[in-house]
Amino acid sequence: MLETARLLLTPLTLEEDAAALFAIQSDPVVMRYWNHAPWTDLVQARDAIVADQAAQADGTLWKLGIRERDSGALVGTCMLFAVERDSRRGEIGYNLAASAQGKGYMTEALDGFIRHLFTVRGLRRLEAEIDPRNAASAKLLLRLGFQQEGLLRERWVVDGEISDSALYGLLAEDFQRARPAA
Ligand SMILES: CC(C)(COP(=O)(O)OP(=O)(O)OC[C@H]1O[C@@H](n2cnc3c(N)ncnc32)[C@H](O)[C@@H]1OP(=O)(O)O)[C@@H](O)C(=O)NCCC(=O)NCCS
Repeated sequence: MLETARLLLTPLTLEEDAAALFAIQSDPVVMRYWNHAPWTDLVQARDAIVADQAAQADGTLWKLGIRERDSGALVGTCMLFAVERDSRRGEIGYNLAASAQGKGYMTEALDGFIRHLFTVRGLRRLEAEIDPRNAASAKLLLRLGFQQEGLLRERWVVDGEISDSALYGLLAEDFQRARPAA
């Protein structure tokens, strides 16, 4: 478990989190630039939690629920995947319920998550791939010290829509510069 001033980051459980995860990932606003269409059935949330638990058991994924300390509500998720152990790098992904956006929650959650990845887990480089039209996500990455390193044209087809990918990278020293330890 990771803790920040306003948030707790803990694993998702089937019993407690399926409904809240479904609410987040069935919302077209949240899913506008995601790599699959919004969910339409609660069973998709349940299946995703089960699949994620299997991936975490074999070490290919680390996914945490982002919870408000005050209410205990699940408001989003953040994850590490595509880990290359020898190169000590991995990719991050994240989402927040629409009602939880604009409060600085993801900056706060990823600050704690990334600090842990660099200082405790020994990673040295993180990557993120976003739709270049996703302005809130680009702003968030820049705030954390990421730099845009590339643009891959027409990389995805999601629900019939073709989109580009902007690739961002963050080295441990970039993060230290952008978010010095308190
Ligand atoms: C990407 C995403 C997480 C960004 O959410 P966000 O709310 O903009 O990001 P944060 O939680 O860090 O909030 C930052 C905003 O809160 C504001 N804010 C309010 N209170 C704050 C506080 N106490 N501390 C910091 N920022 C605060 C900031 O000013 C900032 O607003 P601005 O961008 O207008 O300047 C969100 O848009 C999202 O979940 N989108 C859908 C999923 C998605 O696209 N994920 C990425 C796919 S790769």
